[in-house]
Amino acid sequence: MATQIALFNHKGGVSKTTTTFNLGWMLANKGKKVIIIDCDSQCNLTGMVLGFKDAKEFNVIYNAKEIRNIREGLAPAFESRPVVIQPVVCETIEGQPNMYLLPGHIGLAEYEVTLGIAQELTGSLVTLQNLPGSLSYLFNITAKKYGADILLIDMSPSLGAINQNLLMTSDYFIIPMAPDYFSVMAIDSLASVLPKWNTWAKQAKKQPILQNATYPFPNKNPKFLGTIIQKYRLREGKTPSAAFQQWIDEIEKGVSNKLIPMLKDNGMLLPDEVYKTTGLKPNRPLIQMSDFNSLIALSQKHKAPIFDLTDAQLESTGVVLKITKKSMHQFRDLYSEGADRIIKIIGNA
Ligand SMILES: Nc1ncnc2c1ncn2[C@@H]1O[C@H](COP(=O)(O)OP(=O)(O)OP(=O)(O)O)[C@@H](O)[C@H]1O
Ligand SMILES: [Mg+2]
Repeated sequence: MATQIALFNHKGGVSKTTTTFNLGWMLANKGKKVIIIDCDSQCNLTGMVLGFKDAKEFNVIYNAKEIRNIREGLAPAFESRPVVIQPVVCETIEGQPNMYLLPGHIGLAEYEVTLGIAQELTGSLVTLQNLPGSLSYLFNITAKKYGADILLIDMSPSLGAINQNLLMTSDYFIIPMAPDYFSVMAIDSLASVLPKWNTWAKQAKKQPILQNATYPFPNKNPKFLGTIIQKYRLREGKTPSAAFQQWIDEIEKGVSNKLIPMLKDNGMLLPDEVYKTTGLKPNRPLIQMSDFNSLIALSQKHKAPIFDLTDAQLESTGVVLKITKKSMHQFRDLYSEGADRIIKIIGNA
């Protein structure tokens, strides 16, 4: 079965989508078959990968004959259609034969309320019994169709029912953060909401009505892989500037003092030996990266990862090209290291 990794933070704009794309590409470079899944009704990931510039362009995947987006994939369960859920026809990605996109849908948000009711009434309403397991079921049959090893889940910035479901049915989760006050604040709300979600999932896993559903609720125990801190500015091109460093320190403090103890109490940390053998510490970021500066715009323009832009795509020459390439190679090393850590953890767990 494919390993499902959620990128989650209810704080917006902390690079969840950007990291999903770049990390997915790096894992694919390392020989893993990856599907990146757009579970955010903003559809940023889908728009970026497919190069859509306006909403109309989405009609190609919304009005297709085949099932080509997440909402159509889930429709048999959510709209009580007399057919079973079928795998989604994923999009191939130019330049990366090991990665696919399972596209998002702006209307996914319309399923949020129904899913919320199904999750609140866990086990007491037969008519809703197929909903809590349906996302996981859809992802798994799609993964099987493509022989995927890893599913990366790009989530919306919210604490809604869809995210509750996605996180609690994943094998692992990463929390992207930016070094600022808002990310420090988000640690508190994560520390309060994750235990509630965990309690709910524990109940859901025990409910016969959900286990006997057409799409059974999966028996998962999501584990924390770490944070990814990025978008800070460098001082003299080397270390984070003092102001950013202060927020990075605050984040690490919050993670150590609030998040980790809560995750431990809720069985959401990996065993100590796994962190040890992979040289990781759960309170230290899995990846820490500075601002991509001009590379982010070029990456989006060329639908290519930050770290694999060609000289032509970098659109510069001479000294500028040399400097840009140097910074690109640094990002490549960081993503590569992060991907190696993830592969090692998955292999060791
Ligand atoms: N390391 C980085 N350096 C510079 N810009 C970045 C970096 N990571 C992401 N960005 C930019 O920051 C913005 C937010 O990134 P992104 O959309 O990936 O965040 P998100 O967490 O997915 O947001 P949302 O919560 O809205 O889904 C985007 O404009 C993106 O291009
Ligand atoms: Mg996003």
